[in-house]
Amino acid sequence: MEYSLMAGGKRLRPVLLMAAADAVGAKGEDFLCTACALEMIHTYSLIHDDLPAMDNDDYRRGKLTNHKVYGEGMAILAGDALLALAFEVMTRQKKASRGPILQVISEVGSAAGKAGMVGGQAIDLLSEGKRISMEELRRMHLGKTGALFRAALRSGAILGGATEPQLRALTEYAEAFGLAFQITDDILDVVGDAEIIGKPVGSDLRNEKSTYVTLTSLEEAKSLADMAVNKAIEVLSGLGHEADFLRELVRFLSERKN
Ligand code: IPE
Ligand code: IPE
Ligand code: MG
Ligand code: MG
Ligand code: MG
Repeated sequence: MEYSLMAGGKRLRPVLLMAAADAVGAKGEDFLCTACALEMIHTYSLIHDDLPAMDNDDYRRGKLTNHKVYGEGMAILAGDALLALAFEVMTRQKKASRGPILQVISEVGSAAGKAGMVGGQAIDLLSEGKRISMEELRRMHLGKTGALFRAALRSGAILGGATEPQLRALTEYAEAFGLAFQITDDILDVVGDAEIIGKPVGSDLRNEKSTYVTLTSLEEAKSLADMAVNKAIEVLSGLGHEADFLRELVRFLSERKN
């Protein structure tokens, strides 16, 4: 568990949670328990995603994948235990009242499961070797990547006491952000540098995955990512300068190399 959790990684989901709380005028640092829990769930999803039964990848976050070091059985268990630990840690969240904390635990549970990340991963596996529609691809991405980003931003907003319009804006931002992020991940799988991204390139091609690059083209995927970035910035128009970090982050990440 520690090997994969502490291997590095961009820590985007915790950062988004804290940035959302900041954006609604609260203090992101107050919500570290929930922020860490999201990173645990994300790390579990990566350990399982790399298993031979899924994407069968040997490197993650610049190191050997969990199963390459500890074996498949231990890697499955490390993922399982990280997921369980995440929920334990979320119940330790302070600095918010019970109502919002329970709402967040419920949202994170649903984002991690069938209606979210796991559901998206299932579509991903079921569509290997097939050509799916753009609509299905979008649904897959909203699940496998978008759901946890959405939960991160909404959790930060809810814990930070967001108003309804603020919560709505951050939810819309999350969807556009997730799309821009996963399109960029698909692009990096083709044109990225394995040394810099810390995971192998060409994994999607090898596994005959449907991605934004295979369903459109590199050029078109880039322009779809740009459109999602603009959308993400646009939907934040009702928020003040406290949301500047989120505006910059989405632009930065669509230009990322890792
Ligand atoms: C990788 O996520 C898996 C996807 C959801 C595309 P990240 O790119 O956030 O991975 P780390 O946390 O930085 O390793
Ligand atoms: C996996 O998507 C997303 C999750 C782990 C939920 P990918 O399979 O595209 O992620 P990478 O490219 O291996 O990081
Ligand atoms: Mg995968
Ligand atoms: Mg993968
Ligand atoms: Mg990928």
